[in-house]
Amino acid sequence: MNDFNWECRTKVRFGEGCVKEYLAGLVEEFAIPGGNVMIGYGGGSVNRNGSYDDVMEVLESMGYSREGNAAEGKMIVEFPGIMSNPTLKRMKEGAELASLMDVGLIIAIGGGSVMDCCKAISVQAKYDGDTWDDFWMKGLPMKHDIIPCGVVVTMPATGSEVNGCAVLTNEETKIKTDRDYPEMNPVFALMDPKYTLTMPMRQLKAGTFDILSHIMETYFSWPASDNPADDVSEGLMRGLIRDFRAAVKDPGDLPARSNIMWTASLAENRIIKTGKSKDFEAHNMEHQLSAYTDCNHGEGLAVLHPAYYRHIYKDGLPKFMSFADRVWGLDREDYNSDEEFALAGINALADFIKEMGLPTTLRDIGFGEKEAAMLPEIAESCFISGGAFRPLTKEEILEIYREVL
Ligand code: NZQ
Ligand code: ZN
Repeated sequence: MNDFNWECRTKVRFGEGCVKEYLAGLVEEFAIPGGNVMIGYGGGSVNRNGSYDDVMEVLESMGYSREGNAAEGKMIVEFPGIMSNPTLKRMKEGAELASLMDVGLIIAIGGGSVMDCCKAISVQAKYDGDTWDDFWMKGLPMKHDIIPCGVVVTMPATGSEVNGCAVLTNEETKIKTDRDYPEMNPVFALMDPKYTLTMPMRQLKAGTFDILSHIMETYFSWPASDNPADDVSEGLMRGLIRDFRAAVKDPGDLPARSNIMWTASLAENRIIKTGKSKDFEAHNMEHQLSAYTDCNHGEGLAVLHPAYYRHIYKDGLPKFMSFADRVWGLDREDYNSDEEFALAGINALADFIKEMGLPTTLRDIGFGEKEAAMLPEIAESCFISGGAFRPLTKEEILEIYREVL
């Protein structure tokens, strides 16, 4: 395996009722003294799943309130309306508010979009310049004070709760990009699986596929030989496939929901990335589809993965053979060649995507003639991964898009 550095500073508290049990202590530990508390959330799901009320109850018991004295740092500053695929514009609005209201702790309540937007706000709020240019595009280190950000997870998918990564869309330049920065790691993550029970089936499927994608994007990268990180990944993939089936069959299956929620974090707390080159080309391709069309992240990935892997499997053959064997339980003896066996593993993945009722073409996720005509421009705008078994060309990306249209 390759050399690596590993750290994860996020304090995780997992289980039913964890917000009421732990939030007050975490606010006391991490809020900058004298600062107000900002809560960021999306379009209303927080009211249906109970997370908003739980957070407010705890904050109010600590003397914070919406009408509280801002000068004394006792105010709850609300920042609602964070959309899926959060935009640079919305992030800047949040940063302005956080700066104006002298916020000393941001609490994100929601899925990946809310968490990412709040993590980005925590960096921008006290920065004199424009983080889009300096931080997101140029990757400069941020030496100013970053506001601590904690999260209350309501939808498992991105794993954003346990890492320094955030993804933002610049609507003007049509670039959707991520930035991974240790100081953006949430200071705490509260994970109550009960909040996830209100997720619509479509989001459950999309989010759970995103988790599988994160594991595969890491697993299918160098080294292709056996190593501890990939041993963990194989176990996570087998378990996630089991829990995915169980949750789709019975959306009220709380044990399956809990397993999925923690698998999302285990897939992205960087443990399975140790010693791996990490691909994420399917993510690069999906992010640009989303930048141009605002399509759903997990659904876009489900469309792309099998086609992408049929292009590159020969370049990482041993890993694709392990996938067929250890994840899907196929037997090499039943196939005529190593290539045929590896392809059978990819076909098993494609069959599973269909079985789970996920989309399989771009048309399924809303592409019409107008969007199809944009594909050359979208392909041209994609980042090329340095960690893939084989870097794609822009022409091959366009080929893949056209294959799945
Ligand atoms: O806006 P609200 O009302 O909250 O509704 C949300 C949203 O419509 C809803 N939802 C969340 N929890 C719910 C719920 N509905 C009912 N009950 C609940 N308990 O679900 C919808 C989707 O939420 P969103 O946060 O957009 O989904 P997801 O977690 O998949 O995040 C997607 C974003 O994360 C980025 C994606 O590109 C996309 O922008 N990613 C972030 C990563 C990271 N930070 O590491 C990595 C990922 O690969 C990904 O790129
Ligand atoms: Zn993802």
